[in-house]
Amino acid sequence: MRRWARPLAAGAGVLLAAVSQAAPPEDGKAAFERREDKMKHMGRPFYLGIGRVVKGTAAYGPDTVTAAETVAALASTLDRSLFPPGSDVAESKIKPEIFAANDHVDQLIAAVQAATAKLVPAVKTGDKAAITVAYTAVNNACNACHTKFRKDE
Ligand code: HEC
Repeated sequence: MRRWARPLAAGAGVLLAAVSQAAPPEDGKAAFERREDKMKHMGRPFYLGIGRVVKGTAAYGPDTVTAAETVAALASTLDRSLFPPGSDVAESKIKPEIFAANDHVDQLIAAVQAATAKLVPAVKTGDKAAITVAYTAVNNACNACHTKFRKDE
């Protein structure tokens, strides 16, 4: 038995080294890109898919419900790790103050998640007044973070 213990342990060590090499720490640029990608994928169904229905420039339909579900699903994956220190690269509009505002960020995210959870049932009713109320609540929750931690154009 002893004779086998060593090669096995050595094998596990090699495996661990390979795993840690496969996942290097994310750099600022990669973190920025991951954030921009997530924000864009939430923004499109929200501002276009639902926002146009609210404005009356697009018709309500099954796509509106899909858009709400997409926004809620993506919002549920938001967390602090989307805003890591060092991700304020040149292309980014993030304000570095966000990096020290952990509890506040958690609260802002929780507010978005609560609002987007209500968006789905509201959109499913097909009632424009109800959709507008839920849309406005989500919009305000998203903007609470943007106003505080995103630079103006
Ligand atoms: C906790 C903070 C926070 C919350 C909550 C948040 N955002 Fe953002 N968002 C940001 C920051 C910071 C940026 C700027 C990112 C950058 O430039 O690095 C941004 C950028 C964006 C952008 C621009 C992406 C681009 O093309 O560069 C869109 C669109 C967007 N957010 C949509 C949303 C929507 C929709 C919600 C709500 C469902 C939301 N965000 C919630 C912080 C937040």
